[in-house]
Amino acid sequence: MSIPKPVIELINLKKVYYSNSIPTPALRGINLKILEGEFTSIVGPSGSGKSTLLNMIGALDRPTEGKVLIDGVDISKLSDDELAELRNRKIGFVFQAYNLLSRITVLRNVELPLIVRGIQASERRIMALKALEEVGLRDAAYKKPTQLSGGEQQRVAIARALVTDPKIILADEPTGNLDSANARIVVEIFRRLNEKGRTIIMVTHNMELARYSKRIIYLRDGLIEREEEVNT
Ligand SMILES: Nc1ncnc2c1ncn2[C@@H]1O[C@H](COP(=O)(O)OP(=O)(O)OP(=O)(O)O)[C@@H](O)[C@H]1O
Ligand SMILES: [Mg+2]
Repeated sequence: MSIPKPVIELINLKKVYYSNSIPTPALRGINLKILEGEFTSIVGPSGSGKSTLLNMIGALDRPTEGKVLIDGVDISKLSDDELAELRNRKIGFVFQAYNLLSRITVLRNVELPLIVRGIQASERRIMALKALEEVGLRDAAYKKPTQLSGGEQQRVAIARALVTDPKIILADEPTGNLDSANARIVVEIFRRLNEKGRTIIMVTHNMELARYSKRIIYLRDGLIEREEEVNT
């Protein structure tokens, strides 16, 4: 068996936000390696830097100092276009708000990242239906998102994140708007995707859900306070 490689490596990562020239240090020196195939949760109080950290890993924003390596590539060296391409190719995002377009079908919503990639219609449809199948919603393909429950909408958003077959899935409080039964369904989907080899990082406030992952990182005031391995 080959040794798992770090898919993500953060080196002395710092992020300072400025509003009205007042600095807010959101991350104050994070060092972290995430190996291929890990399922990691990030927990911590509000304002501890969880979303900032996920946005840095997902190349949605640039660090003030330090490095983010994705598959060994220092992403600070990439142009905005190259970053966009890296996101489209390697990373799937899931947010607390499902961010689905309400006027188009579920199927079309899931196809969107493939349109960006220039994949032709018939192939798009096959790929999107397969992604919907993975979240148990193939039958909802021709509905509009508003005809679905919150839990189902979030599963559509997961299908949209999956459809490009990303090796990394980043989820920022994906269960924040869901009741506990739907939250569990969503986290179980993540666990199943992880068992198929995907690397998953999930931010959550809920310790019970964090325990579905294999590793829990505790953030406080922009620093890793401690981490824990989950024994299941
Ligand atoms: N765009 C921004 N401009 C200025 N300050 C920001 C910005 N985004 C975040 N911050 C600040 O950075 C710190 C970390 O914020 P972040 O959103 O990462 O926390 P969080 O752990 O995700 O919190 P929550 O659990 O409430 O989502 C906070 O002090 C926040 O106010
Ligand atoms: Mg947050």
